[in-house]
Amino acid sequence: MLFGKTDIFRPLCLAPMEDVSDPPFRRLCKAYGADVVYTEFVSCEAAVRRVKREVSKFDFEESERPIGIQLYGSNPASLERAAAMAQEAGPDFIDVNCGCWVRKIANRGDGAGLLRDLPRLCAAVAAVQRGTTLPVTVKTRLGWDEGNIVILDLARMLEDLGVQHLTVHCRTRAQGYSGKADWTWLPRVKAAAPGLPLIGNGDIRTPQDAETCFNLGCDGVMIGRAAMMQPWVFRTMRRYLDCGELLPEPTLEQRKEKCIEHLRRHVEFRGEPRGIFSFRRHYAGYLKGVTHIARLRRDLMTLVGLEEIIARIRDFQEEEDE
Ligand SMILES: Cc1cc2nc3c(=O)[nH]c(=O)nc-3n(C[C@H](O)[C@H](O)[C@H](O)COP(=O)(O)O)c2cc1C
Repeated sequence: MLFGKTDIFRPLCLAPMEDVSDPPFRRLCKAYGADVVYTEFVSCEAAVRRVKREVSKFDFEESERPIGIQLYGSNPASLERAAAMAQEAGPDFIDVNCGCWVRKIANRGDGAGLLRDLPRLCAAVAAVQRGTTLPVTVKTRLGWDEGNIVILDLARMLEDLGVQHLTVHCRTRAQGYSGKADWTWLPRVKAAAPGLPLIGNGDIRTPQDAETCFNLGCDGVMIGRAAMMQPWVFRTMRRYLDCGELLPEPTLEQRKEKCIEHLRRHVEFRGEPRGIFSFRRHYAGYLKGVTHIARLRRDLMTLVGLEEIIARIRDFQEEEDE
């Protein structure tokens, strides 16, 4: 399937994740085999007001390609202008967020709020298309709630609009992250809009999950939280899809070094001490399944010097707490 002009067979995509899929994380995931990455979502309203933090989310490096810049909002004029600004950054495509469930965004009609009014959603997508000559894509959920699943109609409408691909997080807005993503919708979406490349998303954690979604008709799969916990999941998935081989889980020593590499990149990008604090959410993934980590965890949540933290991680042995 195409991402801009790049054609990739069975792509593994890193999900857009606010405060997570920043440039160092995207580059790390690329190095582990992610085929496509997306920026964190950018508010079109803040972008047109040139709010520094939002505009800085347009930045990426050549090594990250193909990359999509994700915009959210619903005001057509702002979306059109923000799309033109995003295009100046030179991404491969522009993605429209129609799936964010966070109350303050969805309740004012942005993100998943657009699912309550499909003509408004389509007007938003069309506005982005007017603002750019790049391909435009959409990421969304099944519908607002169980009684209002609109994804089949929406897929047909987006196919007519000529969007380059559609990503579906197989939950409703009302579900948030509860329950299990319902992948049975994937073949139905594919059948409803056969000409629209489909990326499946939601609870894809293992290589077998990825294979299942491809077998259900997806052209690509998108991985969010599993990549946050284990950025090397892309390599594991790719090996399994290509050769049927399940790579062994990294050893503790390998995890420690992977964690340190990520930490260094993260702090280099965000600076100290901010990066030290914001990295704290990533330790759980690297330490998943590791035993006797109570003291280590406490230290990682309190130490503030980069080299001190790195030394602490290197020193750690599993029998430590005993
Ligand atoms: C911390 C976090 C931030 C997210 N930020 C965004 C975002 O900026 N844009 C977006 O479209 N989805 C965002 N999402 C949703 C993910 O892209 C993805 O659709 C969702 O997590 C389901 O996939 P998963 O089960 O693989 O995590 C975010 C998810 C998480 C956990």
